[in-house]
Amino acid sequence: MISQKMEGLIKNSSVIRAMFEEGARRRKIYGDENVFDFSIGNPSVTPPEQVRQTITQILQDENPLTVHGYMNNSGYEDVRRTIAGHLNAQHGGSLDTQNIVMTCGAAGGLNIILKTLLNPGDEVIVFAPFFGEYANYVSNFDGRLVVVNTDPQTFLPDIDALRDAVTAKTKAVIINTPNNPTGVVYPASLLQQMASVLTQKEQEFASSIYVISDEPYREIIYDGVQVPYILDYFRNAFIGYSYSKSLSLPGERIGYLVVHPDMDDISNIVSALNVANRILGFVNAPSLFQKVVANILDVQVNVDIYRENRDLIYGKLTELGFECVHPQGAFYLFPKSPLADDKEFCEFAKNYNLLLVPGSSFGCPGHFRLSYCVSKEQILRSFPAFEKLAEALKR
Ligand SMILES: Cc1ncc(COP(=O)(O)O)c(C=O)c1O
Repeated sequence: MISQKMEGLIKNSSVIRAMFEEGARRRKIYGDENVFDFSIGNPSVTPPEQVRQTITQILQDENPLTVHGYMNNSGYEDVRRTIAGHLNAQHGGSLDTQNIVMTCGAAGGLNIILKTLLNPGDEVIVFAPFFGEYANYVSNFDGRLVVVNTDPQTFLPDIDALRDAVTAKTKAVIINTPNNPTGVVYPASLLQQMASVLTQKEQEFASSIYVISDEPYREIIYDGVQVPYILDYFRNAFIGYSYSKSLSLPGERIGYLVVHPDMDDISNIVSALNVANRILGFVNAPSLFQKVVANILDVQVNVDIYRENRDLIYGKLTELGFECVHPQGAFYLFPKSPLADDKEFCEFAKNYNLLLVPGSSFGCPGHFRLSYCVSKEQILRSFPAFEKLAEALKR
């Protein structure tokens, strides 16, 4: 018998599986080119050529026992030093090897942070809409997810609602900017307001409230928007970074955590992250890819391709009357659902072979998410389907 907790988790994840199976079923019936799957956030831009070149070079030049061996659970020391130096050069600051922990992507990073911080019943604040997996990660360590609303016009966190939500049990606040699913980037002024609320609350409750900044989309940004550097705003801050999107390497499971040098209890925290990496079974981030990313820190995928997709699909949907915040980053649109019930709307859209995800999967009913990390051809081919959908909704 599996655990009751897993029974619940399987039920939840069956929605995603059902969507996946539905896509496969429809492709078989209607043909690949007639099914418009906008449901998954799997990068569609090819990894930069430097990735392949660097892998080859490392395999040729370095000792295989070193390249493929165990190392400190936080990652190779030289890799962490290089990344710390790179971040200091970009943003200023005094990060050192001990402030960097190499992880199995952002998901691995978030889980080792929560393992490190949470006692059962500790509260973790997230802002709706949020990446649905946060609920599972928090439940992995018996924390309690506390959902705080954002402004419905901008999807920026409501500062008063944040103030009201913080209690003596609040251990962490997860932020995600650029955001999945809205594409919104939090401005510096908002981060300042959040920091002042959290500092006040830490004083009121004599507690430490850790900000966890989930940043897999840091480089996927458009129109010259700036993504503020979280360590400049919060002293008790972690950054969870990943190469899944910036180098299109989601299957390789590579990323890192940054730990603010002035964080409360830093020495225990760094030791705990190291142990958490081991005992959650990650042991360490993939060794070859630690070395690969450290060699190409300035390299990124061609974001212009995503920008072009954004412009095409945003233009078409707003022309058809969909209401949508203009995304500044990531590769998602999060329009208002034309039907009050977002699940019903996504079911209805399937009649036109359009696969979309209901906003309720992100804690924000009344909307739907569309991933535009797909080919430009798919976007263009989908336009008649969106036109028919919009027409049918008018009836
Ligand atoms: C907001 C957000 N956080 C974390 C992740 C997990 O990314 P990774 O592949 O780095 O674990 C994703 C993946 O889509 C995401 O969208």
